[in-house]
Amino acid sequence: MTTTLPLLPARPPADDDLPAGAREHLTTTPFGLYVHVPFCATRCGYCDFNTYTSDELGPGANRAEYAGTAIAELSRAARVLGPDLPTVSTVFVGGGTPTLLPAEDLAAVLAAVRELFPVAADVEVTTEANPESVTPASLATLRAAGFTRLSLGMQSAAEHVLAVLDRRHTPGRAAQAAREAAAAGFEHVNLDLIYGTPGETDADWAASLDAVLAAPVDHVSAYALIVEDGTRLARRITRGELPMPDDDVLADRYVQADTTLRGAGFDWYEVSNWSRGDAARCRHNELYWANANWWGIGPGAHSHVGGVRWWNVKHPAAHAGRLAAGESPLADREVLDDADRALETVMLGLRLRDGLPLTALSAAGRLRAADAVARGLLDPAAHDAGRAVLTDRGRLLADAVVRDLTD
Ligand SMILES: C[S@@+](CC[C@H](N)C(=O)[O-])C[C@H]1O[C@@H](n2cnc3c(N)ncnc32)[C@H](O)[C@@H]1O
Ligand code: SF4
Repeated sequence: MTTTLPLLPARPPADDDLPAGAREHLTTTPFGLYVHVPFCATRCGYCDFNTYTSDELGPGANRAEYAGTAIAELSRAARVLGPDLPTVSTVFVGGGTPTLLPAEDLAAVLAAVRELFPVAADVEVTTEANPESVTPASLATLRAAGFTRLSLGMQSAAEHVLAVLDRRHTPGRAAQAAREAAAAGFEHVNLDLIYGTPGETDADWAASLDAVLAAPVDHVSAYALIVEDGTRLARRITRGELPMPDDDVLADRYVQADTTLRGAGFDWYEVSNWSRGDAARCRHNELYWANANWWGIGPGAHSHVGGVRWWNVKHPAAHAGRLAAGESPLADREVLDDADRALETVMLGLRLRDGLPLTALSAAGRLRAADAVARGLLDPAAHDAGRAVLTDRGRLLADAVVRDLTD
């Protein structure tokens, strides 16, 4: 049953005005919940995520009230999607720094998910965390509440690199936090790394990888440093205080990461993600990459249900105000047509270890795929078997291959 509320004329469509077609496969498509926590103690100079350092953001948007606001949006989501609700297979609490909230607040959000939605017995529940913002006690509370996976932003083990990135933790703290998470009983622990930071040497990167491997983790995400417009990092580079990350260095660092991680029993399953065995993959991210369904809770959060994509108003005060008034927090939405969906399938699927069937490509894309095989970017045996799968060299140029095959 679709619930429809009257809309104010000047407003974009609300989240509860879901087109009937979007619900068609609702209960048979994997479904995840993302909960955005838009707070950080300080802003890192490279980061352009929707996060705020002030705790004076307005009613419902301050840290102490935020869990209540997130729960209000969760009950709205359950009302809009009901009465035949999809079973939640993954929950991902991200940020920002979710662990700036008391662990009890994150536990309350998860308890609300369980009250409002059917939840799979093997649900994966991740929270992101900054290494300095967890303690053995907070981790024990999160684990007891049902969190199964911890994703820590380590970025580097080199003190001078952490300083350029404006990180607050000391070099050994991320691995220590991973040990604390393992001791608290977390099933899966991930460390995020960034490579290519100005001033980082090959030896720094090797030391960061070694520090990861010495920690009890079964998942690693390694990202090339992206210089985002409007960040302090971008301004420092423009002023000539720091050099721009060099593409050749980035490629070398990627190869170094892949070689080291593979040597230690990790394997890539998406261009920037490695796991120790398939059971350690992040199922929530896999749900995004498979274009399944998810509802994003929180300011600026994006959702996708059955080809309808929408995103919430960006500022926490506007988001909380809408919910307090019983209104949709949606900023805008788009309905994807078949061509959009086909394009997304290729863009996401090509970055996966399994690649995608050649039939997912356009006729022009299939011709270019043959050319990419000749250039060593796509695997010839997989191509013969009807799939587009990146080679090791292709992974280094993944963005370019995606552009080439989708143009
Ligand atoms: C948005 S953060 C949230 C997690 C947590 N606040 C933290 O930073 O540890 C998730 C990850 O995105 C990555 N990230 C953020 N901005 C980036 C950038 N400009 N370039 C590369 N990676 C970035 C970092 O590795 C970070 O751990
Ligand atoms: S702690 Fe994480 S989310 Fe916060 S500013 Fe730094 S990178 Fe961004």
